[in-house]
Amino acid sequence: MSASESLSLTIAKGAEQHTVRSVRPAEKPQRQQRELSGKIALVTGGTKGIGKATALKLADRGCHVIVNYFRSRDAAGRAVDEIKERGVEALAIRGNIGNSDFHKKLFAQIRAEYDHLDIFVSNAALGAFAGVFDVTEKIWDLAMRTNAQAFLFCAQEAIKIMPSGGKIVALSSLGSHRCIPGYSAIGVSKAALEALVKYIAAASSCQGVNVNAVCGGFIDTAALKSFPNYEELMEEVIRRSPLDRVGTAEEVADVVVFMCSEGANWITGQTIIVDGGYSLT
Ligand SMILES: NC(=O)c1ccc[n+]([C@@H]2O[C@H](COP(=O)([O-])OP(=O)(O)OC[C@H]3O[C@@H](n4cnc5c(N)ncnc54)[C@H](OP(=O)(O)O)[C@@H]3O)[C@@H](O)[C@H]2O)c1
Repeated sequence: MSASESLSLTIAKGAEQHTVRSVRPAEKPQRQQRELSGKIALVTGGTKGIGKATALKLADRGCHVIVNYFRSRDAAGRAVDEIKERGVEALAIRGNIGNSDFHKKLFAQIRAEYDHLDIFVSNAALGAFAGVFDVTEKIWDLAMRTNAQAFLFCAQEAIKIMPSGGKIVALSSLGSHRCIPGYSAIGVSKAALEALVKYIAAASSCQGVNVNAVCGGFIDTAALKSFPNYEELMEEVIRRSPLDRVGTAEEVADVVVFMCSEGANWITGQTIIVDGGYSLT
């Protein structure tokens, strides 16, 4: 293995930080569409599901991609390898995005490695299932900190190192405006995220940065499989969906990547619903 193909592991000083660093391979694959060539992108939760699909599609278009994750180092290692196979740089940074002490460390590391950030995708999410009358302070805090507060504080850091033309995209879900059984705390945190998108978009416009949300319908990822009534839910979603199926992580990632491209320069402060028409029924 040559030096340029090597993969190295670094334990950073912060208690929750673990870095998997890879450098650009010697042979850069030829790709047709490299319209984001050389851009630096951060995808939180970029090691699984929709976040990983987004990270790989950004890499396909020429972005160097930083992925953040929390629990699974193996998945992070695999994501780094797959990003690197696309001929770009990859950096995985471990840390709990729901912990406000982590945000400054995350962006300090990005600044040290790359100096600036062109694209920030706020994708990582966590939450516990509970009916609205069973939501405890712990359940509330987990959802609000991981899904809404993390987006706010990371956007505050991202904007400091984002040049004109930068793009911020946050992942939302239909629970922000529909009542999904057991999803109350997560749904409310996603509603807060969508409201934040508008405020952050208005405040970022003078800097030439677009800020939007992509709101996914039911997408068959590990997160969906954690729903207590997964099988029943899938049947109901397929029955009600105009397109007779659930969506894929790649179908949501395609829209996220579009929102990160120049084609989305005239869209800001919006939430784009990507649900195969489910919310129409
Ligand atoms: N799946 C759906 O049906 C659906 C629908 C609409 C919207 N969405 C939204 O799309 C986004 C991605 O969902 P998904 O289904 O792709 O999720 P997923 O497959 O469960 O992946 C979640 C990712 O986030 C990371 N993560 C979780 N908690 C974290 C934390 N506290 N700090 C840092 N990283 C963390 C995970 O890494 P580790 O496992 O290593 O911690 C993983 O990489 C979420 O915002 C979700 O609300 C999903």
